[in-house]
Amino acid sequence: MILPIISYGTSILKRKAKEVDLRNPNLKKNIEDMWETMYAASGVGIAAPQVGLSLRLFLVDGTPFYEDDQIEDNYKHQLKNLKKVFINPKIIETGKEWCFNEGCLSIPDVRENIYRKEEIEIEYFDEKFDLKKENYSGLAARIIQHEFDHIEGILFTDKLSSLKKKMLNGKLMDISKGKVSVNYLMKFPVNKKRI
Ligand code: CO
Repeated sequence: MILPIISYGTSILKRKAKEVDLRNPNLKKNIEDMWETMYAASGVGIAAPQVGLSLRLFLVDGTPFYEDDQIEDNYKHQLKNLKKVFINPKIIETGKEWCFNEGCLSIPDVRENIYRKEEIEIEYFDEKFDLKKENYSGLAARIIQHEFDHIEGILFTDKLSSLKKKMLNGKLMDISKGKVSVNYLMKFPVNKKRI
């Protein structure tokens, strides 16, 4: 089932999500719905809070970036097979910082250059509840870091300089009021509270 994507300005996106109970009977269905929702919105990643679930769970499919001719090949390693579910992940970020243009399904029409560490080590449970420990770098690491941030209640716009944030403020306020044109299902905050 395609779920509405929760918009910027909704408090669940700013909250640290809760550990997933692996015995949760809804978990399989939640994961299925998240895949469907992500693909319907042409995303490369989606985190549970973005569909209204405060859970430490996200999924990524990096293959559209792998096939994108606009993206330099040296960022693309690991993307071809990056179709994964991450449950209760723990992450260690290392290496140099590098900058890349990011977007987010919860913040339509906003793209900004964001600095992130080059490499990560991540420990998590996959969809079969097997414990995994893996290393990623380049764009694969970046997609995972972006989604991991979501379960920590962090959006990519939080990483911008205060000047850049000020410049974007009007646009972000419009999004939080539903004043944005988007070709996938979204849910906007009920009250127009500033966060
Ligand atoms: Co996002």
